[in-house]
Amino acid sequence: MNDLFGKVDEYIQDLVGQEDSALKAAAHSVEENGIPPIAVSVNQGKFLHVLALAVGARRILEVGTLAGYSTIWMARALPSDGKLITLEYDPKHAEVARKNIANAGLSDKVEVRVGKAIDSLPNLEKENLGPFDMIFIDADKPPYKEYYEWAIKLSRPGTLIIADNVIREGKVLDPNSDDDMVQGVRRFNQAMAENSSTIGTIIQNVGAKAHDGMAIMVVK
Ligand code: SAH
Ligand code: DHB
Ligand code: MG
Repeated sequence: MNDLFGKVDEYIQDLVGQEDSALKAAAHSVEENGIPPIAVSVNQGKFLHVLALAVGARRILEVGTLAGYSTIWMARALPSDGKLITLEYDPKHAEVARKNIANAGLSDKVEVRVGKAIDSLPNLEKENLGPFDMIFIDADKPPYKEYYEWAIKLSRPGTLIIADNVIREGKVLDPNSDDDMVQGVRRFNQAMAENSSTIGTIIQNVGAKAHDGMAIMVVK
């Protein structure tokens, strides 16, 4: 990554990052437990926090928990009676996430559901847990389009939907990529562009993490 982008990311983090001890512990837990280092960056976490505040989110859905780092950033924007449900396939990730969420004092607001997201999403509808005010899609990339379709089902007009990792260092430019993750996000990006139920765009991200992007949509 361009060194200047990294330095500017640090500058922003030092100014407004506000990563406290519970978030630092959650970031550190990934290394300690041999979990892949693929959480959002400090500044991306703060960005999600600002978005949740901007929409006055009371109910948030996250698809892909990892160790709960992005979960904590978003849950901290909730009012006292707010709720966040986060879906995670890997029981070990879920266990580490629950500890991090408890350490951040957020256990009463956050529910971690273990299982494949594609199986958990219909249950949220059956249990009448929607509509959500904000939905963050950040799990496995091949079914991103299906997660997006579920996000719309679990939304109301005005719901904010965000999907991480939709640029993949510019690899999305290659229609013939043999990378399943790239093909998954290409398929999602195209679906987002064509689906008239949402109005959205994509923001490129540079800095602490490799060049990537977040799609941001509002449900009509
Ligand atoms: N949102 C987290 C990062 C998530 S990484 C953060 O920024 O802190 C992606 C997570 O999705 C991993 O923990 C992975 O185990 C999980 N995952 C992969 N396939 C999944 C599936 N089918 N359903 C639910 N979660 C899945
Ligand atoms: C990957 C997944 C992520 O959610 C992320 O932010 C970065 C990388 C991955 O699976 O490669
Ligand atoms: Mg991600």
